Amino acid sequence: MSEHDLELIGLRKVYPGGTVAVEGFDLKVDRGEFISFVGPSGCGKTTTLRMIAGLEDITAGELLIRGRNMTRTPTEKRPTATIFQNYAIFPHMNVRKNIEFGLVVRNTPPAEVKRRVDAIIDKLQIGDVADAREASLSGGQKQRLALARGLVTEPDILLLDEPLGALDANLRKSIQEELRILQRDLNITFIFVTHAQSEALSMGDRVVVMNAGQVEQISPPFELYTRPASPFVARFIGRNKIIAGELAETDAQRATVSTRFGRLSGVPRFDQTSAPANAPALVVVPSEYVDIRATGSTRRQAETDLVSGTVEVLDTVGHVAYLTVALDEKQSVRLETHVERVSGRGIEPGATVDLTWAADRATILLDPANAGT
Ligand SMILES: Nc1ncnc2c1ncn2[C@@H]1O[C@H](COP(=O)(O)OP(=O)(O)O)[C@@H](O)[C@H]1O
Ligand SMILES: [Mg+2]
Repeated sequence: MSEHDLELIGLRKVYPGGTVAVEGFDLKVDRGEFISFVGPSGCGKTTTLRMIAGLEDITAGELLIRGRNMTRTPTEKRPTATIFQNYAIFPHMNVRKNIEFGLVVRNTPPAEVKRRVDAIIDKLQIGDVADAREASLSGGQKQRLALARGLVTEPDILLLDEPLGALDANLRKSIQEELRILQRDLNITFIFVTHAQSEALSMGDRVVVMNAGQVEQISPPFELYTRPASPFVARFIGRNKIIAGELAETDAQRATVSTRFGRLSGVPRFDQTSAPANAPALVVVPSEYVDIRATGSTRRQAETDLVSGTVEVLDTVGHVAYLTVALDEKQSVRLETHVERVSGRGIEPGATVDLTWAADRATILLDPANAGT
């Protein structure tokens, strides 16, 4: 018996027109995990979710839910519930009727319907709008109604397709927190789709980064942020500083890249055996690890890398200083730091500065897309 709530094995989807929407998707989800799918529009997030829900045929590969092969199981026989971006609330029914609907169509006995609907209305605190219709609900109330409709069927897996897309930034933040608390409380597996990397990083136990139908990386948020596995992920997630060059040396623990700004090292994340000499490579450093000082005040330390530049822009907003530092005429780097690390320290527009970081914070990636340029 599988301990996994969900297993995707080589999942593939080709639409009738020939579009390969998803390819080679492998994923194992533990019971009660919160998984986020993130990637740019058109990368295959919705298609994958719809295949899990049984709303879209699977072209090839297998799908298991709690160890049972459900690749060809019709949607109504799967223990999943889906919440769509537009919520798909029935406008002519009140809140209570909307929630009941999924149970009534399953021929659930009336007493059981009432018990479950009362419980979920209570849990999601929408009792005061139980008789209201969609038109008179706020954004947050519609969101809760959509959740109640999904959860009332007591699914093993709740699928959420960009459910917060329609909400403004403040409401989004508070509903993100509510969702997280609710998910822990219910201990149901959530698969949460978003195109916003910040949302994926704040919501998931693990994040699946997708690009053009393929999985680029599956990692907990912190690892995704600090150890991207591909150039796509390094660029898509966060505010990494990325310097291109050519691979000079590598072993299992450390790789060194020749760049226009000198030799820089880091932890390699690529297949050592297939790394040709002088392969195009990237040095990736998360912004948080970059220190800035006026040139001359830096004492170069072992295992620390350094590039120099000129401050082009310095803006302060409250206690945060935003800097743009030109490394040369082609590349500049944007940084955020506390004003106290800048003011009275010779860091001002036109000043020469050193950017330093511990080499083991950097990740070295191969960049095949730039081969031959
Ligand atoms: N019903 C469909 N028929 C044909 N192509 C589709 C259909 N739905 C989506 N696609 C295509 O499949 C790819 C993935 O789409 P989708 O899964 O909606 O991506 P996402 O949700 O990440 O934005 C896109 O190229 C899209 O145009
Ligand atoms: Mg989509």
